[in-house]
This record gives sequence, C-alpha cells and structure tokens, in this order.
Amino acid sequence: MLADSNAQVGYGEATQASMGTIINVFKQYGLDSKDAHFVDIGSGFGKPVFHAAISTKARCYGIELVEPRVEYCLKMVEKLTQEYANESVVLEILKRIEFTRVDAGNVHRYQNRGGVDSTHFYSFNWVMSEDDNRAIVEALNQTTGFQILGWCCNEKTTIEKFGLKGVKLVDRKQARMVGSG
Ligand SMILES: C[S@@+](CC[C@H](N)C(=O)[O-])C[C@H]1O[C@@H](n2cnc3c(N)ncnc32)[C@H](O)[C@@H]1O
Repeated sequence: MLADSNAQVGYGEATQASMGTIINVFKQYGLDSKDAHFVDIGSGFGKPVFHAAISTKARCYGIELVEPRVEYCLKMVEKLTQEYANESVVLEILKRIEFTRVDAGNVHRYQNRGGVDSTHFYSFNWVMSEDDNRAIVEALNQTTGFQILGWCCNEKTTIEKFGLKGVKLVDRKQARMVGSG
C-alpha cells in the first residue's frame, strides 16, 4: 500500500489535555463556528477530530494514509451512532465528523465536499516525511480559506523551511505527547 509513497507511518499523539489547549487556541480564531472546517492531516486513530467536533460546532475531517486507522475511525463513528441512536446531541456531533483515506502528499488544495476551502488545520507532522511536509505547505498555500494551522515546530519541521505564505505566529504551546518515542 505504501510502495508509491514517501510517507512515514509512525505514531504519536498529543495528550487529551494538550489537545484541549490547542483547540482552545483554534476557538479564538473561529473554530467554534458552523462555517469552520477543521482538518487533521494524518488523523491516525482520530482523537483530535473527535475532540474538535465535541468541543466546537465545526465540521471535522480526518485524512489518513493507513487504511486500518481510517477503518477504525469509521467503525467508531458507526458504533457510536448506533449506541447513541436516541441522543440527538451526540448524533449531531457525529454527523459533523468525516474520515477518509488520503495521502497528504497528493493533496493540492484542502476543501470540503462542497468545494469550499477548509479553514482550520492540525497536524502531528513531526512524523511526516520532508516531502509530505512540503506538499502540505504547498496545498495550504493554495487554500485561500485557510485561517490557522497547528503543527509541531522544531528544527525539522519549522514553517519557514517549507515556505508557508502569509502567516504569522499567533501562539506557541508546549504539548505533552504519548506514543511518539
Ligand atoms: C503521529 S500520528 C498522529 C495522529 C493524530 N493526528 C493525533 O494527533 O492523534 C500521524 C499520522 O499521520 C499519518 N501519516 C503519515 N504520513 C501521511 C500522509 N502522507 N498522508 C496522510 N497521513 C499520513 C500516519 O499514518 C499517522 O497515523
């Protein structure tokens, strides 16, 4: 499956508390709006997508390269939809969640199914290959509706290195990680 890809499929994620901190920053920049479209680039087992959907009114979308991880997330949405079939609040949240198997290295512009630009982006991009990070930045540069990006920032992944245009740093948070080695 990965034969034609430069992707690195290692795992790691921010703790729930750290993700909450990041989402709170995003909310200051419009994430708590029905018009917002949040994308987790490399969504893994889906925690940031579920977290964002529960905490905001945004549509929340996970794209992930590894098929079993996407399947896990889709099954989770299905399971919860059945389990909470009589809970309209939960169902409303689940309806705003979407997961798709996509290689971020092949995305040229981030949009929802209606062709409207996605607005809020998160990526635990530290595990991504340099080619993928470059492709993500190129696609973000084409996504004019793009409002905020949260991603790992160190000497390997700094924004400047990949040429993201028209951005300024609005906040910097220390995130605690699990599973990233
Ligand atoms: C470190 S995990 C983070 C998962 C999730 N975002 C979180 O924070 O809980 C990164 C994920 O990115 C995925 N990934 C790596 N390269 C990718 C690519 N080119 N396109 C889509 N997903 C990719 C990996 O398979 C992995 O599941």
